[in-house]
Amino acid sequence: MMFGDKFIAHKLSAFIVFLASLITAGSCVHNDGTKAHPYRYNSVAVTGGGFITGLFGHPTEPNLLYARTDIGSSYRWSSAAQQWIPLTDFISEADINLFGTESLALDPSNPKMLYLAQGQYTTSNNTAFFVSDDQGKTFSIYPAPFPMGSNELGRNNGERLAVNPFNSKELYFGTRTEGLWKSTDQAKTWSNITNFPDAFANGIGIVFVVFDPKHNGTIYVGANVPNGIYYTKNGGISWSIVPGQPTTWTDDVLIFANWTPTSPPLSDGPQPMKASLASNGVMYITYGDGPGPYGVSYGIVQKFHTANFTWTDITPALNNSYPPPYTPQAFPRGGYNGLSVAKDDPNTLVVISLDRDPGPAIDSMYYSRDGGKSWKDVSQLSSPPVPDGTWGHPIQEAALKNGTAVPWLSFNNAKQWGGYGAPSPNVGQTKFGWWMSAVLIDPHNSEHIMYGTGATIWATDTISHVESNSAPTWYIQAQGIEMTAILALISPTAGANLLSGFGDINGFRHSDLFTPQPMFGSPTFSNLDCLDWAGRKPNVIVKAGSTGLPFVDACPMAAISTDGGLEWDRFPNCAPMTNNSFQTGGVIAVDASGEHLVWTTGGLLKFRNDTGPYYSSDLGKTWDAPKGLNIGTGNVSSDKVQPKTFYAYDSGIWYISKDGGATYSSSVAADIGLPENTGAVPVVSFKAAGEIWLPLGDEGIYHSTNFGSNWKKIGLDGVSTSMFSVGAPAPGRKNPALYLWGNTTAGADAVTGLFRSDDAGSSWVRINDEAHQYGGPRLIVGDPRVYGRVYQGYFGRGIIYADIDTESHGTVTVRPGTYGI
Ligand SMILES: *[C@@H]1O[C@H](CO)[C@@H](O)[C@H](O)[C@H]1NC(C)=O
Ligand SMILES: *[C@@H]1O[C@H](CO)[C@@H](O)[C@H](O)[C@H]1NC(C)=O
Ligand SMILES: *[C@@H]1O[C@H](CO)[C@@H](O)[C@H](O)[C@H]1NC(C)=O
Ligand SMILES: *[C@@H]1O[C@H](CO)[C@@H](O)[C@H](O)[C@H]1NC(C)=O
Ligand SMILES: *[C@@H]1O[C@H](CO)[C@@H](O)[C@H](O)[C@H]1NC(C)=O
Ligand SMILES: *[C@@H]1O[C@H](CO)[C@@H](O)[C@H](O)[C@H]1NC(C)=O
Ligand SMILES: *[C@@H]1O[C@H](CO)[C@@H](O)[C@H](O)[C@H]1NC(C)=O
Ligand SMILES: *[C@@H]1O[C@H](CO)[C@@H](O)[C@H](O)[C@H]1NC(C)=O
Ligand SMILES: *[C@@H]1O[C@H](CO)[C@@H](O)[C@H](O)[C@H]1NC(C)=O
Ligand SMILES: *[C@@H]1O[C@H](CO)[C@@H](O)[C@H](O)[C@H]1NC(C)=O
Repeated sequence: MMFGDKFIAHKLSAFIVFLASLITAGSCVHNDGTKAHPYRYNSVAVTGGGFITGLFGHPTEPNLLYARTDIGSSYRWSSAAQQWIPLTDFISEADINLFGTESLALDPSNPKMLYLAQGQYTTSNNTAFFVSDDQGKTFSIYPAPFPMGSNELGRNNGERLAVNPFNSKELYFGTRTEGLWKSTDQAKTWSNITNFPDAFANGIGIVFVVFDPKHNGTIYVGANVPNGIYYTKNGGISWSIVPGQPTTWTDDVLIFANWTPTSPPLSDGPQPMKASLASNGVMYITYGDGPGPYGVSYGIVQKFHTANFTWTDITPALNNSYPPPYTPQAFPRGGYNGLSVAKDDPNTLVVISLDRDPGPAIDSMYYSRDGGKSWKDVSQLSSPPVPDGTWGHPIQEAALKNGTAVPWLSFNNAKQWGGYGAPSPNVGQTKFGWWMSAVLIDPHNSEHIMYGTGATIWATDTISHVESNSAPTWYIQAQGIEMTAILALISPTAGANLLSGFGDINGFRHSDLFTPQPMFGSPTFSNLDCLDWAGRKPNVIVKAGSTGLPFVDACPMAAISTDGGLEWDRFPNCAPMTNNSFQTGGVIAVDASGEHLVWTTGGLLKFRNDTGPYYSSDLGKTWDAPKGLNIGTGNVSSDKVQPKTFYAYDSGIWYISKDGGATYSSSVAADIGLPENTGAVPVVSFKAAGEIWLPLGDEGIYHSTNFGSNWKKIGLDGVSTSMFSVGAPAPGRKNPALYLWGNTTAGADAVTGLFRSDDAGSSWVRINDEAHQYGGPRLIVGDPRVYGRVYQGYFGRGIIYADIDTESHGTVTVRPGTYGI
């Protein structure tokens, strides 16, 4: 949200707007020939897929659970639907910075209230408080006067935002860069608490604010520096440093199990990460030597008695945890981050280590029933016997409680991996977790523990099994959370309707859109950047991406499948300028016959060298530079009907190759009816050879039916698009349906949204609405087999697909899991 008067105190009701838009959409014919249908929106099921940064349970209302994430905003658990409900899908493209929750606060005396502090990056000033009095069904939105960083370092720490249990109108917020702030009107306006001493700790700032619910006016505030915890007993009139804090690293932290430190801690002393005040007045605190979530090597766990300021070290160690830590440890023990205390017993708690990965041994959850005197290592007790300290869940446990498998969590058991965390080296096992900073002992059922990882949420209902040294039963409780970043989507004319490429988690063949699928096989990319399919052999699919794999016997950065994406063969050789240092696999395309390839490799794309896309006509044995196209452009695609035919459009020059990408002929834009100095990825028809569209931003959409020999602008003035695709024709029509993300009218009342045209671009209808914007897509792809369906890839909300609601018959249907639960 940009700052603007109309957004201040603007009450946005996602549910009402959604209903209203469906009703106005009705079932009428718009303009000439594009029918307005009611639409419904669903997520393509992955189940998690990104970093869960916080888990919350309301202290008085059972089953009222929330999750916050770094780039996917926040969710509420619905026990009726047995899934998480996204709360902020109304965020517009212009407001993408608001699609991340820096902190989440509940009002302990009013379970209806929900406060979200929204802002992804401190480089943006577009930050806001989203305040709801109906558990996130509707929000009032107030711009915040300081930056936030939900996707920055330290996002794994405690809650910066807290509601005063003695005064529901009062909130405190610990900022990253502007000190401690206070609101006395439920987060509408904020004032700087200028007498707070340590306002600018480390650029990470204040990482938790904890009100003492038994003592009016007592507040604890933790800054992410050694000795960084302060308190007030008079409601903030004066602040003091909490006495007795650990200020230096002791030898038993630095030297253990015959391991001698090779690199010293990043900080002079332990830095507080999370704190929890138990009902007996004991505050538990986890510490690290850096803010996390990565790069932390040392840490401790402490408790202090708030009644008399005495401190006790309760760090899990050799002599107080069972099973004992894995030895020989060849890596720093990591810090401690995740922390939760049972509501019904102040001596029952869990803590979780941070960044032992890549081990051995990797991170462990520890469970104590005696206030931290002794611990059970939950990770080890949950894990089948393994040789190497990589604790993990048997892959069969990676399933929802109702049995639906989440098979991709095996990460295809690929040993090497370019991404952080990820696969277990033990086949048949998935890692217990990494980046496990979010953990919750359910306040209304202490047997139910959930913990977040870099990829999903695990849960158990039987944590006490560890007391008798046996494994709890684990399952996945992340359904409904779809928080991935999408890099590539294709919808071929045969096989699975959708294949995808993701940031961090490779890619998928979605043979069923509702059910989580296995991950693509080797090479398992961390980022899968590009996919294409052969028009006449739609089971031939190519992919390119980045891995950590060495270049041994074949190219690890691109592969081909001839069975629709089930099995893959790496190309025998990579084209030049390809390796992991370019951080992208580049852009690869396959011709209609499936026999000719072009590849603008990561290096070419990065440097835009004076070399065109390399081509191969022997399925990747050899790659050569083309003639007639001398720019490392990513604006390339293949004709889906005529073999050997590739197109490129860059810097106002149109290129076509009819010999498999070996030679191109070119035309200057002005000579063929295109606006000068434009460029775009050519979008091709899946039915007609030589039919192409060029979405040229504010210049509109241009169309050719003769291989680009000449072009005509389609539609009315005001059509402006950043993303464009084609799909199955409307009933009774031959021309494909067109989809665009952008505007279809000019002027002050223009609306940015997702539009469809059935009549070749003469008329457009909007098919999303204010409630379904998800921060704006990164790519859209029409389905050539399903009229009206368009897939949208988001940065933080996964893949959404919009379908005509054929069951509604003109009446409104609202689906569980969409809105209104
Ligand atoms: C926010 O940042 C933008 C771009 O840097 C700037 O134009 C605008 O004035 C800033 N707004 C505020 C309220 O600081
Ligand atoms: C808490 O303390 C404040 C400041 O002294 C006082 O105004 C308020 O009434 C107290 N609230 C309760 C519930 O005791
Ligand atoms: C807030 O207060 C701190 C002192 O605690 C001060 O250094 C800082 O400049 C203030 N920030 C703003 C934006 O007023
Ligand atoms: C501090 O208080 C706790 C109870 O909260 C008690 O167990 C402990 O012995 C006290 N320590 C001292 C030094 O008084
Ligand atoms: C464990 O060992 C540490 C020293 O490394 C010692 O301070 C502590 O008291 C011991 N704890 C128990 C439960 O024996
Ligand atoms: C299991 O739960 C998921 C998510 O709530 C749901 O989509 C699926 O239909 C359920 N499966 C069964 C067999 O009930
Ligand atoms: C990646 O390729 C470039 C260009 O070929 C080369 O300069 C660089 O050394 C390569 N990097 C690695 C890590 O192989
Ligand atoms: C592309 O440009 C980069 C940076 O100028 C250069 O290092 C590289 O050698 C060039 N590669 C080719 C194939 O032209
Ligand atoms: C597409 O062409 C435009 C205009 O020349 C250029 O700015 C852009 O970088 C190209 N895109 C890719 C991915 O190469
Ligand atoms: C599209 O519409 C938005 C309003 O939703 C406006 O801010 C933007 O300038 C328009 N874009 C163009 C190119 O007209």
